[in-house]
Amino acid sequence: MSTVLVTGGAGFIGANFILTARNRQWFNVINLDKLTYASNLQNLAELQDDEGYYFIQGNIGNAELVGYLLKQYQPDAIINFAAESHVDRSILNPQEFIQTNVVGTFQLLEAARFYWQKLSTQRQEKFRFLHISTDEVYGSLTPKDPAFTEDTPYSPNSPYAASKAASDHFVRAYYHTYGLPTLTTNCSNNYGPRQFPEKLIPLIILNALDGKPLPIYGDGQNIRDWLYVIDHCEAVYLVLQQGKIGETYNVGGLNEQTNLIVVEKICAILDELVPQSGFSYSSLITLIKDRPGHDKRYAINCSKISQELGWNPQEDFDSGLSKTIRWYLHNSDWVNTVRSGNYQNWIEQNYGKS
Ligand code: NAD
Ligand code: TYD
Repeated sequence: MSTVLVTGGAGFIGANFILTARNRQWFNVINLDKLTYASNLQNLAELQDDEGYYFIQGNIGNAELVGYLLKQYQPDAIINFAAESHVDRSILNPQEFIQTNVVGTFQLLEAARFYWQKLSTQRQEKFRFLHISTDEVYGSLTPKDPAFTEDTPYSPNSPYAASKAASDHFVRAYYHTYGLPTLTTNCSNNYGPRQFPEKLIPLIILNALDGKPLPIYGDGQNIRDWLYVIDHCEAVYLVLQQGKIGETYNVGGLNEQTNLIVVEKICAILDELVPQSGFSYSSLITLIKDRPGHDKRYAINCSKISQELGWNPQEDFDSGLSKTIRWYLHNSDWVNTVRSGNYQNWIEQNYGKS
């Protein structure tokens, strides 16, 4: 079985990807993760005795460490999930986004290039560098605009989106300049188990269970396309296996929702699963000050990956939300761990003391 170096594998999507990869025996995994606030090694506890999985704490920007790992483990691919990923944090403190998303990805590309150039021709042809990006690089749509395609010009609006756009450009340049066999995926908002509760869906679930206000920015009419994380993992695997090198692939859930509707759906599911007499969770909904530069709408046209690789999202939003909520209800240890430490500081910084 081949080996893949996965970066950022202790975070939300990376952990779901590694668990899926090991359960389905896709390949062996070396997981390089810096273990920032957003990570959680509990995500991967079930792989403790798995000989096909190895974890190393470290920074993708540490070229010496990455060079050592590549030489030591001889992977056939690198999948780069590692990033600072939260828009609101990028607004309050953009510096770390430049360090990890731009400089870190650049250093990772450099290490990959030096490693790849020394491989045999046969192994060079097999090697892939798959970079995980976001639909946010394309900017904001009005409600009537057509969805983003792979040809939509980049127009990032937040420091997060700008840092991801910069990293995507470096990946593109390494293919065109050095021939490094790169692939890029641009996906929409993921949801599912193990997401850090600073992002909308887990934040709302946990606030509701605590009886706290459910903060919605602005008028709640901003639209996101929601993609179930396991559908995303399958798309990543398919692109790795069959994607055309140098290309980018949009991955979306074909599931556009206003934020208000997402929150109302969560409340309705909680009313059923954890009923409170004479009270609906929706009474906690609170419209608050809008996010600066808040993108109105994201929508993904994923006909390229559908037509060329045969991938289509499988999860229905109501059942995906229900599975996600049940996961948070059944994993209180996980919830308690991530909400200790710095989490409370973040909530106070972003929403004010409640
Ligand atoms: P996350 O914030 O949950 O996890 C990121 C992981 O990267 C963490 O484990 C963190 O410790 C690690 N990391 C951060 N800096 C690092 C560094 N310098 N070196 C090594 N590891 C580092 O993020 P996520 O939601 O799992 O997102 C994964 C990727 O998918 C990111 O590249 C993100 O931009 C992209 N993406 C996410 C979404 C989404 O909805 N979550 C949507 C589109 C694209
Ligand atoms: P988020 O989960 O942060 O993802 P992104 O900003 O990358 O799309 O936010 C999803 C949407 O929910 C976005 O329009 C902002 C909005 N939002 C709120 O209304 N309230 C909140 O507390 C958060 C975190 C997000």
